[in-house]
Amino acid sequence: MRPYQTILIFTTGIIVIAIAVFVFYGGGPGGRGVAAIGGPFTLTDQTGRTRTEKDLNGSYNLIYFGYTFCPDVCPTALQVISNAMDLLEKDLQNSITPIFITVDPTRDTVEHLKSYVENFHPRMIGLTGTEVEIAKAARAYRVFYSKSENTDDTTDYLMDHSSIVFLMNPEGVYMTHFTHTIKPERMAEALKREIGK
Ligand code: NI
Repeated sequence: MRPYQTILIFTTGIIVIAIAVFVFYGGGPGGRGVAAIGGPFTLTDQTGRTRTEKDLNGSYNLIYFGYTFCPDVCPTALQVISNAMDLLEKDLQNSITPIFITVDPTRDTVEHLKSYVENFHPRMIGLTGTEVEIAKAARAYRVFYSKSENTDDTTDYLMDHSSIVFLMNPEGVYMTHFTHTIKPERMAEALKREIGK
């Protein structure tokens, strides 16, 4: 391989990585640089009602993708969201909707989601759908997920997935994101700051 080819490949690689990082983080935590996260979806909530991104607009939304059979990361993330919500004044709390979108629609049926989200917060919405609908929603949020390969079991399996809580404004525009390791107090502070109430 000639030197210029090596340089070309190397430079292209760096540019691809830089774009990926920028798109994923939307210009960094708290950044409002790129509105690459979010987009249209059609899903079904825990009461069986069809929900699109449009009817969820009008509220600040905390969106998290996961699955109910997740042993620890998802319950942690949803508990942090719930605890952070409870630390907020009622007005602010009522302007935010926590939304849990399953990446495991085979097991996470409407009925199953209903009893699951009830464990966390009264304002929490659970969303499921077909494989195609879920894939579309996940793509809009740049969320990765896949069935864990180290099991042949069709009912008892784990899912690998991104674990990021997205804060979207009432127009459906990305504002910031959190990881499931954040303390509820910190998330509550960030919500107050971002929403500015
Ligand atoms: Ni999980």
